[in-house]
Amino acid sequence: EFHVQYRAAVITLSDTASKGEREDASGAAVEEIVRKEGYEVVFKKIIPDDGDTLTALLCELSDEDKADLILTTGGTGFSKRDNTPEATMRAVERETPGISEAMRYYSLQITPRAMLSRGVSGIRKEALIVNLPGSPKAVRECLEYAIGALTHGIDILK
Ligand code: MTE
Repeated sequence: EFHVQYRAAVITLSDTASKGEREDASGAAVEEIVRKEGYEVVFKKIIPDDGDTLTALLCELSDEDKADLILTTGGTGFSKRDNTPEATMRAVERETPGISEAMRYYSLQITPRAMLSRGVSGIRKEALIVNLPGSPKAVRECLEYAIGALTHGIDILK
């Protein structure tokens, strides 16, 4: 049986971590979870909460078929610099609201603050893009719950 290895890209949105002022524990948590699921992490980057940089990166990774799954962490909340959802929507061609709704619904059983994440998700070309909240705890809760279904979705996309 021929097994393709799924390729994941991990993008951390953080002004402080991008300046090296803080460890990127969230990106590390994403990486650990997808690796366990058999993904190869082909791209990993920490960028500031600057929307245009994220949009350009999402377009490049999907248009040049560099990853099957693109996961972002951070920048989904209410602070003035949180603009990950808006930057993601500029790259998305087909929305996948069910993914983001499901992660929020599941997370609400853990904390009411889950309702504060504005994260979105969607498809561009053959890549699935999913926003995760910023804390390592939230990353684990959302991604461990969703990853199996995400992989099934990617199988259909290809
Ligand atoms: N989702 C889960 N599963 N667990 C959490 O602890 N924290 C919430 C929410 N989603 C949380 C969660 C909080 S406190 C905020 S402010 C939002 O995610 C947005 O986080 P971000 O701005 O770091 O992306």
